[in-house]
Amino acid sequence: MENPCGVATGVGLTALVVAAFRAVETEGHDPLFHDRFAARFVRAANTPKPLPTSPEQIDRDEHRALFRFAADGVALRTRYLDDYLTATDARQVVILGAGLDTRAFRLDWPQDCTVFELDQIPVLDFKQQVLDQADAQARCDRRTVAIDLREDWAGALVNAGFDRTRPAAWLAEGLLPYLSPSAEESLFDLVDELSVAGSSIAVWAIAQDACDADRRLSTMYAAFGVDINKVMNTEPRRNIMEYLSSLGWAVTGSTMSELASRYNRPSSVSRRRMTLFTARYSF
Ligand SMILES: C[S@@+](CC[C@H](N)C(=O)[O-])C[C@H]1O[C@@H](n2cnc3c(N)ncnc32)[C@H](O)[C@@H]1O
Repeated sequence: MENPCGVATGVGLTALVVAAFRAVETEGHDPLFHDRFAARFVRAANTPKPLPTSPEQIDRDEHRALFRFAADGVALRTRYLDDYLTATDARQVVILGAGLDTRAFRLDWPQDCTVFELDQIPVLDFKQQVLDQADAQARCDRRTVAIDLREDWAGALVNAGFDRTRPAAWLAEGLLPYLSPSAEESLFDLVDELSVAGSSIAVWAIAQDACDADRRLSTMYAAFGVDINKVMNTEPRRNIMEYLSSLGWAVTGSTMSELASRYNRPSSVSRRRMTLFTARYSF
């Protein structure tokens, strides 16, 4: 696709890289999920340095160990978060920094469920073009909200039909490393303000105490021609699990090794800098 509206540059490219690893998982043996759109996104973006879309492409690459590590991590978190959303009773789901997440098309949603996807205009525009070309049909009432999450996204979400009197299931997957500490805190303050009893959130992030971008992540992005340190915010920030607990959310953390054994994907590589948790709001 000619000029994919900026998805292949800056922070938008991170969504494409996640899609590449979802494509790899989908093509692999005994996949944890099927994302039939992931490879389409990667092909449509036509990045200067090609991204892998199959295990064979990974195996041929000089960075194979790193790519396999990243692909495994994306697969585990994707499946875990699929399970989280599939289990929710909430009838409104909000995906913050949705990128090229296709859960609105992949998962079995209750008939009356609304899924809101929030991300930047170029990413959502590109996504829509590819989905339209694939004649993709959402399996829920899917609503996109094109906005910078440092702006008044809560107002835009309510304008798009979010009902603040009903429980919601929130998702922030791979988003926090790109926000400043204050933007991250405001994000959770707003999630808290918009949530009523029965709401929940799931978050995947690089560990909050990280003071510099994960070296493996930097090397991987460099292989795709991107300086991830330019888009990641590495300023010290408060522990968001503790922060949500202080606001009254019941937080449960999961380690990546727990997920690896739950989904039978043993990995010898440490993922200590990664954080995954769900939290329920029950006041
Ligand atoms: C690594 S991707 C993850 C995408 C998706 N959650 C997933 O896991 O497939 C990060 C996403 O966050 C979005 N993002 C980062 N900062 C943002 C901001 N300030 N406002 C809106 N979206 C943002 C990017 O555009 C990108 O799509």
